[in-house]
Amino acid sequence: MKLFVDTANLDDIARALEGGFVRGITTNPSLLAKEPKSGYLEHMKRIVKIAESHGGEASLSIEVFTDDHCEMIRQAQQFWDELAYANLAIKIHVSHRGQDNLRVVKELSGRGIAVNCTACVTPLQGLLAAAAGARYVSIFYNRVKDGGREPGFEAERRALLEGRILDAADFDANSVVRETRSLIDPDYPAEIIVGSVRSVLDIKQAGLAGAHIVTVPPKFFAPALRHYKTDQAVDQFFTDFQNWTSEEVAAPGA
Ligand code: E4P
Repeated sequence: MKLFVDTANLDDIARALEGGFVRGITTNPSLLAKEPKSGYLEHMKRIVKIAESHGGEASLSIEVFTDDHCEMIRQAQQFWDELAYANLAIKIHVSHRGQDNLRVVKELSGRGIAVNCTACVTPLQGLLAAAAGARYVSIFYNRVKDGGREPGFEAERRALLEGRILDAADFDANSVVRETRSLIDPDYPAEIIVGSVRSVLDIKQAGLAGAHIVTVPPKFFAPALRHYKTDQAVDQFFTDFQNWTSEEVAAPGA
């Protein structure tokens, strides 16, 4: 499983790439909105610069910000041309209310533009995105869980369950990842990115469920390394070594 960093913050991206264990960057309009105001493409160009200064190998996903098909394709092509970054993927959200975006995925993939089909919360969304040619399928792990319990969606939830569009497993995030992986392997080359990570444990559980990639908010990398037994072992190594080097060397024959 690979790790990506889920942020649009330039310092966090630089730090994550310097760390050496991150293979990609995912952004979305909400993440960008946390950064100081500037032009969308200007900010993305700064991210590309950072990625290039670290070898240009990192995957970078950036999202269109429209629901209109023609405008999606226009934005995607503009991002692709202006950023001219080899490992760019354009995020297209999986569905439009009433109209699906899969034809956009197909059109862009046909043009040779890598697509990250985003905001997926069910295995069938992931399968359809992969079948339409997406390079990545992004599953929103904690939003899957929210979808099964938020009281505000009670009526929608019941309608989808009663209509046999969803079943109970569609609200279990690990099951959604596992089933998506089973449905797309080995027919499609799409990789599953799990996003919407809200705890350190989500990283491990999503990976074990079958994610090819987990994209992680930067604040979770440091705590992922925490354990008191590691600290104890390292303290003991230093103390033992210090005691050994400071011991008097016994005089020969004494
Ligand atoms: C990643 O690709 C997603 O955009 C992101 O992880 C969504 O996370 P959220 O559910 O915390 O907004």
